[in-house]
Amino acid sequence: MPINLPDEISTNRLILRQPQLSDAAALFDAYTQDAAVARYMVWVPHKSVFETEGFIAYCCEAWSNGKARPYIISSQSEPTRPIGILEARLRGHMVDLGYVLAREHWGAGLMPEAVGVLTNMALADPLCLRVQAVCDTENTASARTLEKAGFTREATLQRYIVHPNISAAPRACFMYAHCK
Ligand SMILES: CC(C)(COP(=O)(O)OP(=O)(O)OC[C@H]1O[C@@H](n2cnc3c(N)ncnc32)[C@H](O)[C@@H]1OP(=O)(O)O)[C@@H](O)C(=O)NCCC(=O)NCCS
Repeated sequence: MPINLPDEISTNRLILRQPQLSDAAALFDAYTQDAAVARYMVWVPHKSVFETEGFIAYCCEAWSNGKARPYIISSQSEPTRPIGILEARLRGHMVDLGYVLAREHWGAGLMPEAVGVLTNMALADPLCLRVQAVCDTENTASARTLEKAGFTREATLQRYIVHPNISAAPRACFMYAHCK
């Protein structure tokens, strides 16, 4: 039985919900084509909305087969406009997080808010003992997101992950976790 997370999550300022193929165009406009957003991600900026449709198809499949819950993020004030994704990958007793937000919304503390609420919900399930995330050691914004959401930096993982927008060589990452 996978860790239990709800289909929809509300925070003070955000709504997190299941993805739909019709989200692709709005996500393309919001961030999937943006090189600044993609800099520390494992994907390269999308050249057309068709690439974003392929990504959303993966999200829908992962949601239905129970491997992950990639939540579409929108603001409470504009619920029909997707502005990012928070993906919870369900791995036995742990959840592994990935997240991204459209550039126009950076700096308002939105992602720490989303990560904090989702993490508390995951850890409320007796099955869940650990919520973790990794980020490039140069991705200060992501490291700060995790620290503000109450995560602890556990380690530096050398040569851990390729971030292709920077280089083809595997790079160092910080491992952060929130355990109980
Ligand atoms: C990482 C990310 C999700 C942070 O979300 P956010 O809601 O902007 O987070 P916060 O508002 O709490 O800001 C976190 C840090 O970002 C930095 N920051 C703030 N405003 C910023 C801006 N306008 N531009 C760039 N960085 C900014 C600061 O270091 C801030 O830390 P501080 O509050 O201690 O000053 C967002 O920057 C993002 O989507 N980046 C691109 C995708 C990415 O790197 N995802 C993580 C992969 S591991």
